Amino acid sequence: MLSGKNILIGITGGIAAYKICELIRMYKRNNANVRVICTPNALNFVTKLTLQNLSQNNVGIEEYEINDFKPEHISYADEADIMIIAPASANTISKIANGICDNLLTSTVCAFKKPIIIAPAMNCNMWENPIVQENIKKLSTLGYKILEPESGFLACGYEGNGRLCQIDKIFDETSAILLPRNEVKKKYIITAGGTIEDIDPVRYISNYSSGKMGTAIADEAFYNGNDVVLITTKDIKRPYKIIKVKSAQEMQQAIENEFENANVIIMAAAVADYRVKTKSEQKIKKTNEDTITLELIKNPDILQELCKKRTHQTIVGFCAESENLIENAKEKIQKKGCDYLIANDISRKDIGFSSDYNEVTILHKNGGIKQLEKASKQEIAKAILKEINE
Ligand code: CTP
Repeated sequence: MLSGKNILIGITGGIAAYKICELIRMYKRNNANVRVICTPNALNFVTKLTLQNLSQNNVGIEEYEINDFKPEHISYADEADIMIIAPASANTISKIANGICDNLLTSTVCAFKKPIIIAPAMNCNMWENPIVQENIKKLSTLGYKILEPESGFLACGYEGNGRLCQIDKIFDETSAILLPRNEVKKKYIITAGGTIEDIDPVRYISNYSSGKMGTAIADEAFYNGNDVVLITTKDIKRPYKIIKVKSAQEMQQAIENEFENANVIIMAAAVADYRVKTKSEQKIKKTNEDTITLELIKNPDILQELCKKRTHQTIVGFCAESENLIENAKEKIQKKGCDYLIANDISRKDIGFSSDYNEVTILHKNGGIKQLEKASKQEIAKAILKEINE
């Protein structure tokens, strides 16, 4: 299954390091080429000889054992299709989140441009430490796939959250990312963020959308093995195609360029309904009047127009409502003509805009309604994709 794939495993100093021996065997049984890098502390828990025998490759530890024409960390980074850091200690997580490169493993991560999975394992108090949590959040936002630790009896004697996730889960995530994409892939176009409508060279009209929900859906679609194009107003880096746009018109054009061979379109962006009719080329100066009038003109309704011209695509809209959520959403799904509408209650401060959490209701064009409980945007993204693919 993983034949021809190059998997790089980074092991850090934690008791769960012994479990990685089994993970290496799983990858090898599936014909992957496996290379291993250890931090010096990892070798307190597992031997170099064991890892070398299992991976059938040299194990890298020191940064300056240069026996290649390129520095060691660059060779490792270039060769691999994916990197798995497991177990990831609090120390290494925090170093990576802060761009520190003080050993072969962290230097390789810094030079690595392909998907990285991080599976943390540590004492529960360390895992709950706000600094570690902040660093995890930062890495997740930057596109690292975090496989959260599980709860249970820990090697340090504590009962709590911090145990390395199941090895099967790491294997499944790796396979999902590396799967031969032609067999399973669909092309997803996902939009995210609030559009920016210029008034003059220094001012604009926009909204509070953070782009997090759309980006979480794009991440999930990508990690499920699909081709993903994320059209967003935000500056982000991901291992899939990102098209940065500003205005509703630019967003519409970018979608049109990608539309024809797309299978699924998910409009999570908050598109401004109106733009300034004539953008001033010069900064608008203050006058003696107390009021000023801006003339606005309607933006195209991107979602509605896509629904009109679709051939085979599944089209999903979002709706932001501050009152009468379901009633307005039912009306909107009919008006727009999309297959699904994901309804958000924006009156709540604990979910939605800027929050990492959301609680949504999924409406289907045939009248079906499914309410999802409050969960992280990643979990909501998973549930939305599951629902539209069933
Ligand atoms: N949308 C769009 N083009 C627009 C406005 C909205 O494609 N000009 C899309 C959004 O991306 C979202 C859906 O339409 O998927 C619903 O957006 P929402 O703001 O809730 O609805 P509107 O049509 O703008 O209606 P209103 O603001 O009056 O609620």
